[in-house]
Amino acid sequence: MMKITCIVGSPNLKGSCAYLVDTLINGISNSAAIIKKYCINEIAMNYCYGCKKCYENGECVQNDDVKNVVLDILSSDYVVIAAPSWWADVPAQLKTLFDRTTPYGDTNPNRNYKADKPIKGIAIAVRAGVREQENQLILNAIAHYFGHLGIATVERISVRQTDKLNDLLENHRAEIQQVFELGKVIGKSV
Ligand SMILES: Cc1cc2nc3c(=O)[nH]c(=O)nc-3n(C[C@H](O)[C@H](O)[C@H](O)COP(=O)(O)O)c2cc1C
Repeated sequence: MMKITCIVGSPNLKGSCAYLVDTLINGISNSAAIIKKYCINEIAMNYCYGCKKCYENGECVQNDDVKNVVLDILSSDYVVIAAPSWWADVPAQLKTLFDRTTPYGDTNPNRNYKADKPIKGIAIAVRAGVREQENQLILNAIAHYFGHLGIATVERISVRQTDKLNDLLENHRAEIQQVFELGKVIGKSV
C-alpha cells in the first residue's frame, strides 16, 4: 500500500504551505493511498536536550509525538515537507522536528529504525520576498533532513512573493497546478 506523509511546516493552518500540501493531496485522489498529514504546531514535542543519549541506544529520553511522526516518515513511499521562510530559515517548530529526529538519522551510530525501501521526498518553500536564493536555503534545509533519513529529494518547489494565501491564489496558479500534477503522478503510481 502506497503511503504518503505530509508535513505542513507552518503553524498557519489556513496559509499557503497548508494550501499547497492540500492541493497535492487532492491531486493524489486515490483511495488506495494512505495519506498522513501533520501540521507542525499539532505535533507535541519539546526542544532537543542535546544530551546525545540517543547516540547510545537510538532512543530519545523524551517521550512525545516525535517518534510516531518519524516512523510514519520512514514507512512512507513519499514524504512532503512545505515550509515558509521565517527569517530566511525554516520555522523553529520545524527545526525542532529536525533536531529531534537525531535518534533516527544516519549520523546516529545506534539507530534502531530506518527505511526499508526507497523514499522520495518533495520539498516546498514559500516566502514573501523575491530573492530566489533565500528559498533555496529553505529547500536545502529540507533536502538535508531528507538526506540523513535516506530520502531522495525528487522535487524542489519554490514559491516567492507570497505573504498571504491570496497572493498564492492570485499570482501563483502555475505552482498550484504543479503540485496538483505532482499529486496526480503520485496517485497513479499506487
Ligand atoms: C515570523 C515570520 C518571519 C518571516 N520571515 C520572512 C523572511 O525572512 N523572508 C521572507 O521572504 N518572508 C518571511 N516571512 C513571510 C512568510 O514567509 C510568508 O508570509 C509565507 O507566505 C507564510 O506561509 P504560510 O502562509 O504557509 O504560513 C516571515 C513570516 C513570519 C510570520
